[in-house]
Amino acid sequence: MDNITLFDIVTQKKLTYRLISYGCQMNTHESEALAGILEQAGFLKAEDDKTPDAVFFNTCCVREHAESRVFGNVGALKHLKEENPDMIIGVCGCMMQQDGMADKFAKRFPFVDIVFGTKNMYRLPEMLYSAVVLKQRCIMIEAEDTLADDMPIKRNSYPLSYVSIMQGCNNFCSYCIVPYVRGRERSRAPRSVIEEVAALAREGYKEVMLLGQNVNSYGLGTDCDFPRLLSMIAEETGIPRIRFMTSHPKDASEELIKTVKKYPNICNSLHLPMQSGSNGILKMMNRKYTREHYLSLIEKARREIPGVFLSTDVIVGFPGETEEDFALTMDMMERVRFDAAYTFIYSRRTGTRAAEFENQIDRAVKQRRIAELIDLQSEITYESNKSYVGSTHRILVEGASTRNENEFCGRTDTGKMVNFEGSFKPGDFVDVRITRAKKTTLFGETL
Ligand code: SAH
Ligand code: SF4
Ligand code: F3S
Repeated sequence: MDNITLFDIVTQKKLTYRLISYGCQMNTHESEALAGILEQAGFLKAEDDKTPDAVFFNTCCVREHAESRVFGNVGALKHLKEENPDMIIGVCGCMMQQDGMADKFAKRFPFVDIVFGTKNMYRLPEMLYSAVVLKQRCIMIEAEDTLADDMPIKRNSYPLSYVSIMQGCNNFCSYCIVPYVRGRERSRAPRSVIEEVAALAREGYKEVMLLGQNVNSYGLGTDCDFPRLLSMIAEETGIPRIRFMTSHPKDASEELIKTVKKYPNICNSLHLPMQSGSNGILKMMNRKYTREHYLSLIEKARREIPGVFLSTDVIVGFPGETEEDFALTMDMMERVRFDAAYTFIYSRRTGTRAAEFENQIDRAVKQRRIAELIDLQSEITYESNKSYVGSTHRILVEGASTRNENEFCGRTDTGKMVNFEGSFKPGDFVDVRITRAKKTTLFGETL
């Protein structure tokens, strides 16, 4: 017989849930922990076309648009809650961790039952008890930095998996809200991370993505650093592919590059957010490196790891960004020729230092700059894609493509998405010769 929980007894049925994530990989991964907790409490994942008994919004606040989406989507549930007062609506994540936001949110949406932050997710069972059994609203935001590393995780991404190695950020880039909502950096014990990855490998997972806001500063309070942790995972766990993000350029060391080069199961790719190509803007952003340092890092990576996949994040329209500053960013894009770039319009976040800066940039100027940047990068990405044509790569099959059931997709070690025909299962490795490149994907034939 299925495990019967208190919630099943109280409600006389199996409750269903749906989770909606708005943020980065860390946010998506935390939703996997929320799903794990809900399933331990007896909840079942709702089918796509059914209205669930409980809905959770796992929010992000890194940019303004993430916030406005949440307000809209939560507001839209009001009528469902009126029809079915037993429905549980929960809101959690980074946005709730902003100063005063949880209260403001709870006032504006009185029909929301549970509100919590990133630091007390592990207390969801108590909050469910309050909402489902006592029928009492529960608003719980923790200020203290916590590190819960034994939450049940319900993964839904086979053959890929995410493992968080640290929480928080100490860098305080002047535009960024993350250090305020996630607190100070704290690292998991190396053994605990290694055991989690080894268990994933035993379960058959083929790839792990190690997550942290700045993985290169991993190790605070442990006797380990990030290159050492990577080496141990590569040597001891048996996981076929290891990726990691994010690497702050000020802390990415030669040791890191050597470690990536040394182990065949560490993927040849580096995500190194550049943010701007202008030293003046980098200084105002409090990034603590220069374009010269950034370029030398890229040179070292390319020299040591031939064919390395390089990706980045870039912000345009930071306060005070002149045409010259922007031209320097464009110049860096041309020089480095990233395989992929995530481009953002600067978004003013209350509470950050840059929100107080004068010379905020006009919206129209930001729009023009981002359009130019995207145009340039899509040319460069296309060029990078074309450079793969004719070469053969080992692909980790992720699944069938949505367009055609005989078409599968998967990634190269470096991280390029490739489509090819055949009959495979997610988790298979297959050798594929790349025959054709489009702007966003590659096509190939299996050997
Ligand atoms: N810790 C990671 C990721 C932080 S958030 C890092 O340091 O790279 C992911 C990206 O969002 C950042 O790299 C940055 O490019 C962008 N970002 C963060 N705050 C922003 C803001 N206020 N406006 C626009 N983009 C922002
Ligand atoms: Fe934000 Fe900078 Fe920390 Fe990244 S390193 S999370 S951009 S403060
Ligand atoms: Fe991620 Fe957004 Fe929080 S980017 S860390 S979910 S503010």
